Amino acid sequence: MTDSPTAEAPTTTAGQASRPYSPGLEGVIAGETTLSYVDGANGRLLYRGYRIGDLVERGTYPAVANLLWTGDWDPAHRLPTAPVPSAVLTVLRAMPSDAKPMDALRTAVSAWGATQELPWPPTVEQARALTAFSPSALAAFARLRSGKEPIDPDPSLDLIAGYLYQLTGERAEEGTVRALDAYFIVGAEHGFNASTFTARVITSTRSDIASAVVGAIGTMKGPLHGGAPTEVVDQLAQVGSAEHAEEWIRETLARGERLMGFGHRVYRAYDPRAAALRKVAEGMEHKPDWLKLATEVEDVALRVLAEKHPDRPLRTNVEYYAAPVLMGVGLSPDLFPATFSLARHAGWTAHALEQAANNRLIRPDVNYVGSEERDLPR
Ligand code: ACO
Repeated sequence: MTDSPTAEAPTTTAGQASRPYSPGLEGVIAGETTLSYVDGANGRLLYRGYRIGDLVERGTYPAVANLLWTGDWDPAHRLPTAPVPSAVLTVLRAMPSDAKPMDALRTAVSAWGATQELPWPPTVEQARALTAFSPSALAAFARLRSGKEPIDPDPSLDLIAGYLYQLTGERAEEGTVRALDAYFIVGAEHGFNASTFTARVITSTRSDIASAVVGAIGTMKGPLHGGAPTEVVDQLAQVGSAEHAEEWIRETLARGERLMGFGHRVYRAYDPRAAALRKVAEGMEHKPDWLKLATEVEDVALRVLAEKHPDRPLRTNVEYYAAPVLMGVGLSPDLFPATFSLARHAGWTAHALEQAANNRLIRPDVNYVGSEERDLPR
């Protein structure tokens, strides 16, 4: 018996060496899109050409979602939340009350998909229906886990006001709705991030739009993607005061841990979404007490990160200022990642439409780095 291939047999890794490989697919162009332009070097983000700052100032999430789905800018476009089908409610009622909201949302979308006709190719109507359903489902779970009954949608409310109403049972103030709307707008779309790429891979197999969003939610659940704002809150609680910031940051980095809300695969300049949300957070009526602490810690963190990584600009990302906005509108921190997922529904579903419109199965190659061909041990 031998571990080496026979002289005549082809080696299993032949022909691979010349093929380029980029770990994490960093820098690899894996598709084309007209939906958003993430200009990492200059800190610009455009949705269908429009600047994110302008969309936050003058748009609403339903108008932005419609822009992504159709290419048309209609600032008056409305999208009320949709009712939760009874089969989905049954599933949500069966979830343990300590289930993670991301797990509940992923499960709800999966159950919703089973109640719908979702033929290929996906349509704008399917995208709208799913985007309108998910806030109701998450709000229903949030109430059920604390022993309260879900609240039916109020069709007179637009999506953000409707979500808050179904969470709390009360009509939110205009300023609160505007702040959360801004958060949803900046979270709506962001190129080929990991969850969107997942949605496109699933769509490329001609699977349905609900499956694409279920996979995307699973991808976003990871702390390197969508879990950061909750951790920003924990992080600031641990820092406690501006005087302790430098010591805490240095100790954290010395342990090899990362500062949540900093760094980005694409942005080397300040994340324009963080800039837009910082403005919103500072203008909020009910600012969380630690917004001041957050801005002070940010200055120290940027200085220390620049010192530690002089060749790799690590700047504030969207999640850092998402935390004060979401706290300010009264959401519990464990709902942050799932609320981010609600916002990203517009982008995920728009990418599903774009992928389907010019579909090619996404199926890359892999370099085999295992054992050469060999005989099984006798
Ligand atoms: N804190 C400390 N060091 C960091 C951080 C950070 N937040 N981010 C990157 N680094 C360091 C890495 O340790 C690495 O150092 P090394 O070269 O000495 O090993 C170097 O910077 C490069 O980091 P990479 O991991 O190559 O960067 P990558 O592009 O893979 O990571 C990511 C991007 C995952 C966002 C990363 O910056 C991170 O973990 N940030 C913290 C989590 C976070 O804020 N996530 C939200 C991202 S925004 C979003 O998803 C919507």
